[in-house]
Amino acid sequence: MTEHDDGSLDATARVVDPATTDDERRIEAALRPRRLADFPGQRRVRDQLGLVLEAARRRESPPDHVLLSGPPGLGKTTLAMIIAAELEQPMRITSGPAIQHAGDLAAVLSSLAEGEVLFVDEIHRMARPAEEMLYLAMEDFRVDVIVGKGPGATAIPLELPPFTVVGATTRAGLLPAPLRDRFGFTGHLDYYATEDLQLILTRSAGLLEIESTREGIHEIASRSRGTPRIANRLLRRVRDWAQVHGQHVVDQEAALVALELFDVDKQGLDRLDRAVLEALCKRFGGGPVGLSTLAVAVGEEPDTVETVAEPYLVREGYIVRTPRGRSASRTAWQHLGLTPPTPVAGQDHLPLGDQPRRFDH
Ligand SMILES: Nc1ncnc2c1ncn2[C@@H]1O[C@H](COP(=O)(O)OP(=O)(O)OP(=O)(O)O)[C@@H](O)[C@H]1O
Ligand SMILES: [Mg+2]
Repeated sequence: MTEHDDGSLDATARVVDPATTDDERRIEAALRPRRLADFPGQRRVRDQLGLVLEAARRRESPPDHVLLSGPPGLGKTTLAMIIAAELEQPMRITSGPAIQHAGDLAAVLSSLAEGEVLFVDEIHRMARPAEEMLYLAMEDFRVDVIVGKGPGATAIPLELPPFTVVGATTRAGLLPAPLRDRFGFTGHLDYYATEDLQLILTRSAGLLEIESTREGIHEIASRSRGTPRIANRLLRRVRDWAQVHGQHVVDQEAALVALELFDVDKQGLDRLDRAVLEALCKRFGGGPVGLSTLAVAVGEEPDTVETVAEPYLVREGYIVRTPRGRSASRTAWQHLGLTPPTPVAGQDHLPLGDQPRRFDH
């Protein structure tokens, strides 16, 4: 995983390109839409958020706190920036891992101006005392600043001007309920439809001055795991391939060859996805197997397998999450060109939504 300057971790960096450079990050920033109206896809979240912001504008007061959740690369940071832009307010950026002491957070909170937007990325990774301070501040616009140490320490209450917290998380389930409840609006981002990714890619190609054909864009869009960050990266890799091969148009042929070269298969699964499926089918006979065992088998952190690879594999029906662990579906066996054993493990289980929330770890 790549660590950003602000301490946040970019979990998708390795999926397509293990060596994410500053240059890549700059390009990513340049490709972010700036306004809600320019943000394709996520129609529901966009409409809901549009309403929340418009109502706040009419009331001339800061909107409720907003929580954005969803897998990496779907636009949480982008939307946070859009919220600040739509409110015409400056945005302060911090992240859970950067706030390890309540004092770190007190310093940030006490310097906020009225109406400002405080973006807390990876909010589920904040230290517990800071979490408590944050949810009290979100509710009462007040922090207790501790002066002194030990038994002589005193808490001095400090009033804060109203502000808006925008939290982002890939793991909403890990947020403690009191903190989650302080958010007046939660937007769940889901994987994008191919048509939306085509819109995003066409726009990106324009901004990066990449000539492309509709078929080329469609090929990339349909193999980007429903994720704009991956789509934009693949576009640049296909462009690289085209340039090196003396052609200046990103067309279907360039996309087909380049995506193959970068280990993105027909269904858009990348190396990590396939490693997970292969471990599950070949080493564990299709499961069920616990997350940490599976992660060890593919040489990754359990968190990476759970937040980066698994959500998409579950959504596309390759993996079934059961109370006893992860199981391969018939689709997974077929995708690897293997014959599934009969009956396929886990097939008698309910889909994810009907499962209890916590699973083995
Ligand atoms: N709806 C969208 N339209 C156009 N581009 C988008 C959209 N959503 C995301 N992107 C692009 O994808 C990239 C990743 O988006 P973003 O950084 O907002 O994701 P994220 O959800 O914050 O990911 P992470 O969980 O890793 O922090 C951005 O650089 C942006 O260019
Ligand atoms: Mg982000």
